[in-house]
Amino acid sequence: MKNFTSFADAGDYKALLQQALEIKANPYGYQHIGRNKTVGLIFFNPSLRTRLSSIKAAYNLGAQAWVLNAGADSWTLEMADGAVMNGGTQEHIKDAIAVMSQYCDVLGVRTFPSLTNRDEDYQEVVFNKILQYATVPFISLESATLHPLQSFADLITVAETKQKERVKVVLTWAPHVRALPQCVPNSFADWFSEIDWVDFVITHPEGYELAEQFTKGARIEYDQQKAFKGADYIYAKNWSSYRDYGQILSSDPAWMVSEAHMALTDNGKFMHCLPVRRNVVVTDAVLDSPNSLIIQEAGNRTISMQTVLHELLK
Ligand code: CP
Repeated sequence: MKNFTSFADAGDYKALLQQALEIKANPYGYQHIGRNKTVGLIFFNPSLRTRLSSIKAAYNLGAQAWVLNAGADSWTLEMADGAVMNGGTQEHIKDAIAVMSQYCDVLGVRTFPSLTNRDEDYQEVVFNKILQYATVPFISLESATLHPLQSFADLITVAETKQKERVKVVLTWAPHVRALPQCVPNSFADWFSEIDWVDFVITHPEGYELAEQFTKGARIEYDQQKAFKGADYIYAKNWSSYRDYGQILSSDPAWMVSEAHMALTDNGKFMHCLPVRRNVVVTDAVLDSPNSLIIQEAGNRTISMQTVLHELLK
């Protein structure tokens, strides 16, 4: 593994998953890997889980970690090549990333999409610029289109809880009050459409189709209740429209995941990446039920990051 930005970078996902389960069983058993190493974490956007689990993962591996909240803690960064910097920006991203690469052995970056310019977001213009200037291995802490550390943690969570050889996993759109990126569902589809022991189904209202480069021919079911029937895992997430880019096309509360929805499943487990707006996306009763995996899933964010760091630093 050279960088970690998508499912493709995982290489042999079965081997990576096995490594993750071994790290989870023995979290401090690989401290020689991180000795005298530093993990740099740059956030252009807010975070709770990604930030803290990445620091914890570094510590578990015997490494140190630093965090920079770009813009808030640093100079205001200029992104445009060839810019005449006589305005509000104070340091060019080219210089900042080259400098910060000298202060770490692996660099993680979070950059959210604008949700206003689909071409720019889906070409990962900002993210690729940073990748271009980084001189150390690179980890996506969530880009404009993908959140691979989350999806890897989701895969670990399903793998360690599944009761059957094959499982039906349903990604369901759910309502929200704000327009959210497609990163988490794109990434979930990018990963789960490739897992050979998963029957993967996506359900959403019409107009919320995700980019085909990530759904890769996965079954799409517009009837949410039909999709839920017999499911072993329900993964809920809101996203704004890819077709009508960044728009909210529906806020239909009938799509909020409730106990009645979960009753259609085969005693299905509930998952969400968090943060979640309770009683908008999913009811308290589902989130707080014994079948809810949300806390275990968030815990596995440390394991996914630790496994990726292990691969990049070893
Ligand atoms: N799931 C997730 O990435 O959480 P944060 O945005 O809090 O990091």
